[in-house]
Amino acid sequence: MTSHAPKFLKDHTPPEFLIDQADLVFDIQKNSTWVVSSLKLRRNTLFTGKKSPLVLHMGDYEIQSVTADGIPLQTHEYNADGRHFQLTDTKDHVSLDIGVVLYPKKNTRLEGLYKSNHIFCTQCEAEGFRQITPFLDRPDIMTTYSCTIIADKKECPVLLSNGNLVDSGDLEGNRHYVRWEDPFKKPSYLFALVAGDLCNIQDKFITGSGKKVTLKIFAEQNNVEKCRHAMACLKQAMQWDQDRFNLRYDLDTYQIVAIDDFNAGAMENKGLNIFNAKYVLADPKSATDEDFMNIQKVIGHEYFHNWTGNRVTLKNWFQLSLKEGLTVFRDQEFSSDLNSRSVERIANVKKLRMFQFPEDSGPMAHPVRPDSYIKMDNFYTMTVYEKGAELIRMIHQLLGETTFQEGMTLYFKRFDGMAVTIEDFLSVMAQASQSDLTQFKLWYTQSGTPMVAMDRSYDPDTQKLTLTFTQQTLPDRNQDIKLPLHIPVQFALIDAAGNEATLQEHPSLLQLKEATHTFVFEHVKPGTLPSVFRQFSAPVRVKNDLSDDELAFLMAHDTDDFNRWDAAQTLFVKQIQQLVAAIRLKQPLVISPNLVQAFETALSDPASDRAFIARALAIPQETELADHFETIDVAAIHRARGVLKKGLAAALEPMFMETIETCGKSDPDSISFQNIADRSLRNLALSYMSSLGIQKTNDLVFNAFMTARNMTDEFAALKIVSQTDVALKRASAEQFYKKWCHDKLVIDKWFYVEACSPLSDTFETVVCLTAHPDFSLTSPNRVRALIYGFAMNNPVHFHEKTGRGYTFVTDQILELDRINHQIAARLAACFNQWKKHEPVRRSLMKNSLETLMNSPKLSSNLYEIVSRALA
Ligand code: TRP
Ligand code: ZN
Repeated sequence: MTSHAPKFLKDHTPPEFLIDQADLVFDIQKNSTWVVSSLKLRRNTLFTGKKSPLVLHMGDYEIQSVTADGIPLQTHEYNADGRHFQLTDTKDHVSLDIGVVLYPKKNTRLEGLYKSNHIFCTQCEAEGFRQITPFLDRPDIMTTYSCTIIADKKECPVLLSNGNLVDSGDLEGNRHYVRWEDPFKKPSYLFALVAGDLCNIQDKFITGSGKKVTLKIFAEQNNVEKCRHAMACLKQAMQWDQDRFNLRYDLDTYQIVAIDDFNAGAMENKGLNIFNAKYVLADPKSATDEDFMNIQKVIGHEYFHNWTGNRVTLKNWFQLSLKEGLTVFRDQEFSSDLNSRSVERIANVKKLRMFQFPEDSGPMAHPVRPDSYIKMDNFYTMTVYEKGAELIRMIHQLLGETTFQEGMTLYFKRFDGMAVTIEDFLSVMAQASQSDLTQFKLWYTQSGTPMVAMDRSYDPDTQKLTLTFTQQTLPDRNQDIKLPLHIPVQFALIDAAGNEATLQEHPSLLQLKEATHTFVFEHVKPGTLPSVFRQFSAPVRVKNDLSDDELAFLMAHDTDDFNRWDAAQTLFVKQIQQLVAAIRLKQPLVISPNLVQAFETALSDPASDRAFIARALAIPQETELADHFETIDVAAIHRARGVLKKGLAAALEPMFMETIETCGKSDPDSISFQNIADRSLRNLALSYMSSLGIQKTNDLVFNAFMTARNMTDEFAALKIVSQTDVALKRASAEQFYKKWCHDKLVIDKWFYVEACSPLSDTFETVVCLTAHPDFSLTSPNRVRALIYGFAMNNPVHFHEKTGRGYTFVTDQILELDRINHQIAARLAACFNQWKKHEPVRRSLMKNSLETLMNSPKLSSNLYEIVSRALA
C-alpha cells in the first residue's frame, strides 16, 4: 500500500533546495483564510549542476495562484496533487509566490491552521506546516520568516506570530493588520500564528545581561486571572535556565497562548508558545496540586526548548529525542531543584514503568531513535520522551554535573543555528569528558528494556560479598540480537544498623559493560545489604534476590529515598502476585505481616516526610501491576488489589484515622510543599478507609467531599466516593457538575471520574455520557477524559468479559478517525497489550483490531498503530 509507505532513517538525504526567506500573508475572512507565501529558494550547493525540479510538500487545499520571479505560472508549469507541489522546471535561484485558500473552521484535525472556540491558531509540529502552504516542510530547512496578518478588528483584535511586532495599522471595512518578523532562522514546525479576541496578563524578566524581556500570557477574558501561576512559573524557568545551564532568552518578548482544543500538552513555537489550557490556567478552587505542579513542568519544558530544540534543532524527525529527551531531562531537573528531588524522581520512574516499559515490550517497541515511521505523529512516545530523558540522565551521571555542563556549552558553541543529530550530541559529550560513548550509543539504537539480575554470595569467614550482575534484553521486531549495554549502577552498602558503609576500594558508581559482571567487596560485616540502582540510575528492570525481611529493612533504612520507595513497591508487587495466585487457586487470601509492619513503622515515624510516605504507601495501580505478570488477569489483579487495600485499612484503622486528623489542617489556598504533602497523605488515608465500605467510612468520605475547600480535596474525595458506592457517587457527581458546569477544565475531571469508576453502573454511564451536551469528539481534552479514561484507566470495565467495552471503544476510534487522526491513533494504543491477556480477552481484543484494520479509509496514523499491533 503506497499510501501508508514508511520512511527510513537510512534513506535520509540532504535537501536539494534551501529557503533563505519566507514572507507569509494571512488574510483571515469569515469562512476562509487566504495565504500567500513568498519564498526565496536556491539550490543547495551540494547539488550544484543538477537540473532536478523543485518539489515542495503540500496539504489538501487548492492552489490559487503561483508566480515565479514575478511571472504568473500557467497550470502546466507546475503539478499539485495534494501531497506534493512540483515545478516542471527550476533554475538555481527562484522566488516563488504561492496563494492558497484554507478553511480553518472545518479543520478538526487540529493540525495546520484551525479554530479552537473563537480563536484561530496553528499547530505545525511535526508535519503540519505543509497544511498551511506548500513548503520544504522538514526540520533541516531553516529560514527567517515574516508574517503579516489581516483580519476583522472586532472578531480578531489580537494578532500574533513569532518574533517582534514591526508594523501594524488600520484598514478599510473595520479591518486591521500586523506584521511580525522573527530574526532567528527556524524550521517550519516552529512557525505559529494566533488571532482572536484574547486578553493577557503581562510581566517582565531582566536577563543576566540586563536585557528586559516582556512576558505575556493570553487567554479568553474570563480566564485571564487564572494565568498568574503560569506567569510565576515562566519567570522561575527563565531564572533557572540561567543559573543551572547558563542560558539566556534571546528575543524581546515571550508570549504564551492558552487554547481549549489542542492535540498535545503544549508547543514551543519560537517566541509564541501555544498551550493546552490545562497547562496554563489554575487557581486553588478549580485546580489540584497536581495541576499546579504540571503547569510548572510544562511551562518550563516549552521554555527550555528555546535552546534545546529551537536554537539547535533536528536534522530529521528520527532525531526527535535529541530535543525531547534532553528537554524532558531539563524540565525534570527544574522540578527537582525547585521542589523535592526524591518525590520528583519517584513520579518520573512510576510513569516510565507504567507506560514506557509496556510500550518497549509491545508492538510499538522502537529505539529511542526510531529507524522508520509511517506517521511521525505516532512517535511522540514515552520511549522518545521519557526513556530519552533517562539516557541523558545516565550521561549526566557518568560525566558529573560540571563535565556535563561543559559538554552542553560545547554543544551550543558548535551547533547553534544548526539542524543536528544524536551523534552530534554524543560527540560533544565524549569530547568534553574525553570518554568513549560508542557502547553507550546502543541505548539510542536498540529497543527493549534490559533485565538486570543481581545475585549475592557472602562468606562470613572472609567477610567477602560477591555481587554478580547479568544483563539481558529480549529480541524483538527491531533487532534479533541485542548487544550488552553500558549500564551505570549507583551503589551503596547498608549495614545492619542502617548506616551507609564507607567504600574505599569501590566507587559508588559501578559500570556494567558486559553481559555478566562480578564485583567483590571486602570487609563487609554480616547483615549488610546492597542498595543498587539508587535514584533509579538506569532504565532497566531489576531482579534481585532480596527477601521480604530484607526489603522491609531497606524500606525503613536505606539512605536513598528512591530505593526506600522502591523496596515498598517491590513488597507490594510480591504481595499482589501472591494474592493473584491464591485467587486463581481458590486458596485463602492472606496479607503478609511484614507489609503491615512496614506500614506501621512508616506511619508512626514522626520524622518522616509526608510527601514521601504518601507515595511509599500507595499501592501501585492496576495497569502498573499488570506489567509484572506473564499473563494478565485483570479481574484477579483488581480483586487482589482491593483485598490488600481493605486488609491494610482494617489492620491499621486507628493510624489512618489519626493521619486524616493530623494532616487535615492544611491551608486550603496554599500550594507550599508542606500543605501539598499534608493533603496527599490525608487523601491517601481517606482512600484506604473508604475501602472498608461501611456506613461510618462512607459518611467520612462523603463528608470530606461536602466540606472540601479546594479542588485537590474536592477532586480526591470525588474520586474516592466514585470507587465506593453508586448512590453516593451519583449524588456527589451531580452536585459537582452543578457547581462547575461553567468551567471546562473541571468538567473534564468530572467526565474522567465517571470513566474510571469501578462501580457496576460505569459502562452504561460512560455510553450515556458520549451523548452529553458537554461531550464532543472534536475536543481532545474531552476524549482523553472520557474515552481514554475508560480505555486506559478502567481495566475492570474496559476488559469486561462480554467484550462490550472493546466494541464501544472500537466504534469511538472509527468515528474519531474521521475527525482527528492523531487522537484516534493514540486511543487505539489501548489494544497494544492484547497478546498478554488471558485467551478470552485476547481473542476479543484481536477481533477489535481486525475490525479496525478492515474498515475502509483508515488514516495512516491509525493504520500504523493497528498494523503493528496485529503483526
Ligand atoms: N513539541 C511538543 C513538546 O513540547 C509536543 C507537541 C506539541 C506535539 N504539539 C504536538 C506532538 C502535536 C505531536 C503533535 O513536547
Ligand atoms: Zn517537548
